[in-house]
Amino acid sequence: MRDPFRAVMARQQDKGYSVALEELHERDLPREGGVLVEIAFSSLNYKDALAVTGRGRIVRRFPMVLGIDLAGTVLESPSPEFKPGDHVLAVGQGLGETAWGGYAQAQRVRPDALLHVPEPLSPEEAMRVGTAGFTAMLCVLALERNEVRPSDREIVVTGAAGGVGSMAVHLLARRGFKVAASTGRPEQSEYLKNLGAHSIVPREELAKKEGPMQSERWGGGIDTVGGEILANVFAQTVYGGAVACCGMAGGHELNTTVWPLILRNVSLLGVSSILTPKPRRIESWRQLAATLDRNMLGAMSRTEPLSRIVELSNEILSGHVRGRVVIDVNA
Ligand SMILES: NC(=O)c1ccc[n+]([C@@H]2O[C@H](COP(=O)([O-])OP(=O)(O)OC[C@H]3O[C@@H](n4cnc5c(N)ncnc54)[C@H](OP(=O)(O)O)[C@@H]3O)[C@@H](O)[C@H]2O)c1
Repeated sequence: MRDPFRAVMARQQDKGYSVALEELHERDLPREGGVLVEIAFSSLNYKDALAVTGRGRIVRRFPMVLGIDLAGTVLESPSPEFKPGDHVLAVGQGLGETAWGGYAQAQRVRPDALLHVPEPLSPEEAMRVGTAGFTAMLCVLALERNEVRPSDREIVVTGAAGGVGSMAVHLLARRGFKVAASTGRPEQSEYLKNLGAHSIVPREELAKKEGPMQSERWGGGIDTVGGEILANVFAQTVYGGAVACCGMAGGHELNTTVWPLILRNVSLLGVSSILTPKPRRIESWRQLAATLDRNMLGAMSRTEPLSRIVELSNEILSGHVRGRVVIDVNA
């Protein structure tokens, strides 16, 4: 491995914190029982952008290497679960929040946070998926566990052209669901149809303030946006349907009533990816590898250098990033 190597470091200041590309040595990395990983790729999630720009309360300890995802190759392992040369990944699990993360050329990671990259994915493909794709899979599995089945009723995905949204559209379509993609960017309609969307729903159509019980329209939903849009999706879901709620790109409030729950048997399913226990993480990645079309995964992602992380973070927060961004930590 390179020594010294580059890392995006957050350091506490009198007011807030600073973020800069720094040089670290292997001896600077946390020691206790961690697997030494030579990182090849990380990714850019909404939460990474909040951390890089200091806009959200993401970073819980300082100094902190940012980046909630990583993929690379094991160099040294105190754990019998991993050996040098293994391709590994980590998403969430406190990386970049309470434990040093993936915006670095090397890291020590606690064995519990690491998984083997599932065949046939490469480390770069694993980061095309990243936290966003993993969360989309958790949402799909939550709907399936709640007996939402493919039918003529569409499943609506909100924030569809974003990272979680693009992955959700694609995964649902691959599992036989008819998908309605809701987007504020009509120019992305062709892209969303290529990912498997059956129809496109303009964002404004779901953003109006409407009643708490509306005509049944969706078999279920995956919501990455929150606010009025989630309230409407919930109010328009069919008897016995379910809505998986994982994001708040449009707002954290939810003004609704209990009516869809108690009169239509609709379930509102909370999805948090960060602390997913290892057996469920392994199973979800197995399902991801089995469900994804790897060509489509390529079509919904682009790879960018770590040196552009600040610029890219501002881009994602302004809603201008399409699909997924992989971060090449060596560029
Ligand atoms: N629960 C979890 O574990 C978990 C994991 C990952 C992400 N998340 C959350 O999920 C959300 C999406 O993350 P992401 O990485 O997919 O971000 P992203 O790539 O930026 O996607 C967000 C999408 O939301 C839509 N959007 C943005 N601003 C909006 C607004 N003001 N009103 C309505 N829609 C808006 C846009 O889609 P269109 O252009 O198509 O309209 C945008 O592309 C974030 O809130 C993130 O924190 C949660």
